[in-house]
Amino acid sequence: MNLLERAELAPADPILGLTEAFVRDTRTDKVNLGVGVYLDEAGAIPLMAAVGEAERRIVAAAAPHGYVPIDGLPAFRAAVRPMVFGEDAPVLERVATVQTVAGTGALKVGADFLKQLNPSARVLISDPSWENHRALFTRAGFPVDSYRYYDAEARGIDLDGMLADLRAAVPGTVVVLHPCCHNPTGYDLSPEQWDQVVAVLAERELFPFVDMAYQGFAEGLAQDGAVVGKLVDAGVAFMVGTSYSKTFGLYGQRIGSLSVVCADADEAARVLSQLKICIRTNYSNPPAHGARIVSTILGDQGLRTMWEDELTTMRNRIASLRKLLVKGLEAQNIVDMGFIAEQRGMFSYSGLGPTQMERLREEHGIYGTNTGRMCVAALNHDNVGRVAQAIAAVRA
Ligand code: LMR
Repeated sequence: MNLLERAELAPADPILGLTEAFVRDTRTDKVNLGVGVYLDEAGAIPLMAAVGEAERRIVAAAAPHGYVPIDGLPAFRAAVRPMVFGEDAPVLERVATVQTVAGTGALKVGADFLKQLNPSARVLISDPSWENHRALFTRAGFPVDSYRYYDAEARGIDLDGMLADLRAAVPGTVVVLHPCCHNPTGYDLSPEQWDQVVAVLAERELFPFVDMAYQGFAEGLAQDGAVVGKLVDAGVAFMVGTSYSKTFGLYGQRIGSLSVVCADADEAARVLSQLKICIRTNYSNPPAHGARIVSTILGDQGLRTMWEDELTTMRNRIASLRKLLVKGLEAQNIVDMGFIAEQRGMFSYSGLGPTQMERLREEHGIYGTNTGRMCVAALNHDNVGRVAQAIAAVRA
């Protein structure tokens, strides 16, 4: 018997599978709004100036390529912790932090560790959520349900539904939260709404898992990470996975971190030792280059300022692209999509259905996910008119 005969052909990934199809598409005016990648006016992924300079310094240092410790490059871990928790935050003495293979790696290491601690726990993700959340936590062995989040009719957040679903969850349930730039909807909780959510998480003894992939893409580094401080103040144990893919333009370097907020330093040491086992038995230890870039930038005042300025430019440009798309749609007599300018982060939940998204792809070479999500950070002055025209055509 050939064991491998049992392998069935899996469907393409709902996000990265689109990029595969986009690459195969021979049309020259195709537009990829499928994956969450920021593109410049020329339609290319920019190399941030701070990243380029950090790389020059790294290459000049000509360090050999030794192993990175299981829990990551020490300089990287030290540099990212204040960014996630605030400069000199007292909580840091009871936080275990490891370098991870980007944000997805942080989710998987965290999920494996939580499964080991609480095998009967359930996971709650927002409805809707990042396409990979359900698959990742299911693969880690958890039953995955969702809490209400997006109110399609009101084009906003169903806060009452969200609070009710969290109140109904049993203690120990892992709750995956998007701190800013909600993926896929682009609708974020206000600070006051976060207060209410955090109060329920604490009261019901739920376990928050903050998935932070876009810190700095909504309002600013501190504002976008504010929920982390609220959870610390509430005195709950929780995890934060952070991706540096988007904010540093380091997609292919797979650089991220996972921080676990514990009750005290002794607990943090024990947690760190377990996270190291999750890593060691999975991929042994993380890659070095992305960690060197991020720690070089965050550890040098000049480079840090340069990077923060570039991040601000990206944030402002995404906001202006949103307005540009709304204007382009208005020029096509579409006046009910002004909400695109109010959403935040890389994505817009357009309200288009799967058939319309398929037509956008097949007839116009414009790629977005079947849920109607479009990456507005991939628009530019050249392609926005065509995108608006195509949306008008599939809505007609
Ligand atoms: C996205 O949502 O498009 C990004 O986070 C890329 C990915 O890995 O799915």
